[in-house]
Amino acid sequence: MDKLVIEGGTRLKGEVAISGAKNALLPILAATLLTEEPCVIKGAPNLRDTNTMLRILRSLGKNAELNKGVVTVTSTKYKNFVADYKLVSTMRASFCVLGPLLAKLKKAKVSLPGGCVIGIRPVDLHLKGIKSLGASLSIESGYVVAKADRLKGSRIYLGGICGSSVLATDNVMMAAVLAEGKTIIEAAACEPEVIDLACVLVKMGAKINGFGTPIIEIEGVKQLHGAEHTIIPDRIEAGTFMIASLITKGDILIKNVLYQHLGAVIDKLEEAGAFISRTDSSVRVRFKRRLKPINVTTLPYPGFPTDMQAQVMSLMSITTGISVITEKIYPDRFMHVAELNRMGAHIQREGPHAIVEGVKELSGAPVMASDLRASACLALAGLVARGKTSVSRIYHLERGYENLEGKLQDLGAKIWREKE
Ligand code: EPZ
Repeated sequence: MDKLVIEGGTRLKGEVAISGAKNALLPILAATLLTEEPCVIKGAPNLRDTNTMLRILRSLGKNAELNKGVVTVTSTKYKNFVADYKLVSTMRASFCVLGPLLAKLKKAKVSLPGGCVIGIRPVDLHLKGIKSLGASLSIESGYVVAKADRLKGSRIYLGGICGSSVLATDNVMMAAVLAEGKTIIEAAACEPEVIDLACVLVKMGAKINGFGTPIIEIEGVKQLHGAEHTIIPDRIEAGTFMIASLITKGDILIKNVLYQHLGAVIDKLEEAGAFISRTDSSVRVRFKRRLKPINVTTLPYPGFPTDMQAQVMSLMSITTGISVITEKIYPDRFMHVAELNRMGAHIQREGPHAIVEGVKELSGAPVMASDLRASACLALAGLVARGKTSVSRIYHLERGYENLEGKLQDLGAKIWREKE
């Protein structure tokens, strides 16, 4: 297993191009199960999670290949309706094959995804939605078994205790596009990744209105056809590089970004004192003066994304003053706190809040990544810490950041891989 070693202290400068969004791509790959016709998805990042989803598609009978950022999914035959535990348990997004498999094959058996280090992540909203469409559901040996001769459109409220659910909205939307009659999803997630999926489904012949708002209306059709689509840029990767610029007192031009997707992040970083300029497809982030502490609360889109919480905590850990970071989506998503404290940060967790008392400097240390965004947070801290930081378990990073170390190296960072 590799670890990432970072020697802190370099100001990052230059340009970086953002890859396609992982969280848009994964459900879109699941959507290709809705048709026998070929689908071509461009701008796909080469990630561990991408490859897991391709393996799942292959296990179900599709030919699915990634070549130079283009995924091609073909094959008219489905050889299986079972999404296996070994694959689904490694990646929660794979639960999204439930809706399309059921809609297309009238039955689906998908392993329950299981626990996760960022907290309990239930699938009750997914199941509620699929059941409302008329499917019979049972749990057998850790699998959800769903059956329905033809799904029937319905009115479904998908709000949960922490707000809307991204993947439940995706899953139910994918099932409803082939259902008989009209489905109305209330309290739907409004994330850009949900919109991207809806755009692909529309290209495939689905009739969907209202995506990007909390009420999505779907008029079921009999069948869908193939489509070609380019994935939106990854707003979380872009946000991570914005923080990389600020934490190293740098100046980075981030290309292939839709700044409209980063409203809450840009707003908070500007409040802290960042200089941010935007064009239609790029964002330049400059450090010009000492930053101020900020309070951040994560919320569903268009609020501040939970997937940027750990990274902003790194930045606040070396920003003089007190910042309060409140996690409202996954109240236990704080595994990075102890690791940042190992590097000299002063962060105290109190329930869903982290109280960050900014210190003058961090000092490099061996730290352990617990999940994808925690890994990014530790790499960011390493960029500014005195001395060497080694981040172990970097397979988490490989799940969601395409060539992070190469991109950081091009900006001047001293970062490399070593065997553990
Ligand atoms: C998506 O996960 C993302 N994953 C996550 O990104 C992201 O953190 C999350 O949305 C929130 O933005 C993908 O898109 C592949 P949710 P998802 O259902 O859809 C609760 C990353 O680092 N909930 O929107 O699984 C849930 O516990 C990852 O890239 C239920 O109660 O998240 C949470 O509190 C990690 N019941 C809230 O809803 C359910 O059935 C929102 O979660 C489903 C969710």
